[in-house]
Amino acid sequence: MRRPIVAGNWKANLTAGEAAALVRQLKASCETAAAEVVVCPPFTALAAVAPLLKGSRIALGAQDVFWEPAGAFTGEVTPPMLRDAGCQYVIVGHSERRTHFGETDQIVRRKLQAALAHGLTPIVCIGETLAQREAGQTFDILTRQLDGALGDCPPETCRRLILAYEPVWAIGTGKNATPEQAQEAHQAIRRWVADRCGSSAGGGIRIQYGGSVTPANAASLLQQPDVDGALVGGASLKADAFSAIVKAAKTGAAAPHE
Ligand code: 13P
Repeated sequence: MRRPIVAGNWKANLTAGEAAALVRQLKASCETAAAEVVVCPPFTALAAVAPLLKGSRIALGAQDVFWEPAGAFTGEVTPPMLRDAGCQYVIVGHSERRTHFGETDQIVRRKLQAALAHGLTPIVCIGETLAQREAGQTFDILTRQLDGALGDCPPETCRRLILAYEPVWAIGTGKNATPEQAQEAHQAIRRWVADRCGSSAGGGIRIQYGGSVTPANAASLLQQPDVDGALVGGASLKADAFSAIVKAAKTGAAAPHE
């Protein structure tokens, strides 16, 4: 059984004080959550949020990480720094980083390996653009991104990370993938993992869907057999909306894949 995992990616939003206020609201509403819940504030809010989450059901994640542990890399934040700040998770390879900051699959691979080496669980994002989907290239793109980021990883690695399918055309657009589109992509991603890392890794890996998830569409997306949670952007900035999405992810909603 795969436990659903719902993560909020706050992106470049909220000051430390605003982040703390949001977490105080979320703590109460996520107390009885069946799903695993993660919030990913901006770096500058991690220190304010971490102590508030102690003893709660919500885990802390970061939105990015550098691959070296320390050194002369101005502006970067390293895996030991994230651990020290209380993070258990880190998002790697978000499409906004790929698009705006030139992150390649090679960079994504270095980041996810560094995260794993320092005991962080990476949430590795992949997804196609609208032009790629319309050209019928969706599965080629997903395969290329998986090959690039994970291709030479040992099979055990696949057990220790989370994948997030985030079609670029669905991010921040209000146009989510249909449950059928999400299921089709997730099934293909799980098949890739099973082929490369064995059927037990394929059956066990959790794959989140991200892209305009709202309280209105969460249940139908999360009911899909290969959708194991959500990576939520805009709706994660509102306590009511995020809590409703968390509640839509019930344990057992995602049946084990055969
Ligand atoms: P939205 O939920 O705002 O579409 O963002 C999704 C996302 O990019 C999460 O990482």
